[in-house]
Amino acid sequence: MNVGEKTIERDDSFSPARAVYRTLVHFFSYRFILTRKQSTTTHVEGFDLAVLPSVFHPKIFLTSAFFARFLQSLDLQGKNVVEIGTGSGILSLSAAKAGAKSVIALDINPAAVKAANLNAAKNGFEQVRAFQSDLFSAIPAERKFDIIISSPPSFSGEPRDDADRAWHAGPGYRDILPLFKQSAQRLHPNGRMYLLLSSDSNLALMDRLTRSAGLSSKQIAKRSIWVEAFYLYELSLAETDLIPD
Ligand SMILES: C[S@@+](CC[C@H](N)C(=O)[O-])C[C@H]1O[C@@H](n2cnc3c(N)ncnc32)[C@H](O)[C@@H]1O
Repeated sequence: MNVGEKTIERDDSFSPARAVYRTLVHFFSYRFILTRKQSTTTHVEGFDLAVLPSVFHPKIFLTSAFFARFLQSLDLQGKNVVEIGTGSGILSLSAAKAGAKSVIALDINPAAVKAANLNAAKNGFEQVRAFQSDLFSAIPAERKFDIIISSPPSFSGEPRDDADRAWHAGPGYRDILPLFKQSAQRLHPNGRMYLLLSSDSNLALMDRLTRSAGLSSKQIAKRSIWVEAFYLYELSLAETDLIPD
């Protein structure tokens, strides 16, 4: 993605120091957070959330609160929303809190689906329903949405298990490559997609995928922590309306 200054190609081309740093962060995140054996509860951006084993922790990982806060600032009155990769459900709940009429929360990890349904009930948002799905596969082909939200796994590499799917998207981002084209096909003409990417993701690849899906994108928010930055993009169907198959 073009982040203002220059187009960045990362992830598969980390410097040796960066690669060591990323390996260490993954080791500790995987060992002590993603694969913990016990369920826990947390409070983030106004929600009480159960975090089941293997589910992305919405408090420890800072992207969740950043994206949730952004969504809660929108007016989504009457909108039909879908989320790809819901984890604890925090972003879907935020969309509901912002007024969405219906929110479908999808995740490939069955524990995330369970957590999101639990958290929807716990926080009183019956318009949020979670289902197991690989990207949009569980949604009938003709179904389109006003809003798509996603904070996909940031790194390439084979996931070790369901928990690691929050982190690794497969070699060369295999598991999320179809996300962009599928999203373009699922958006209403005036629809919007909100996508969160890390500065350590392969932003140039994401940019190519966005364009080749017939989507245009603009960066709408950024949060920097000293080692990394998180970017929020708004994607919409490009003017040409020509979406390649
Ligand atoms: C970085 S986590 C984000 C979780 C949550 N949205 C949040 O912001 O706290 C990415 C999520 O995407 C899910 N995921 C990964 N690959 C997926 C796929 N192909 N289809 C659906 N969900 C997927 C993971 O299981 C994980 O829950």
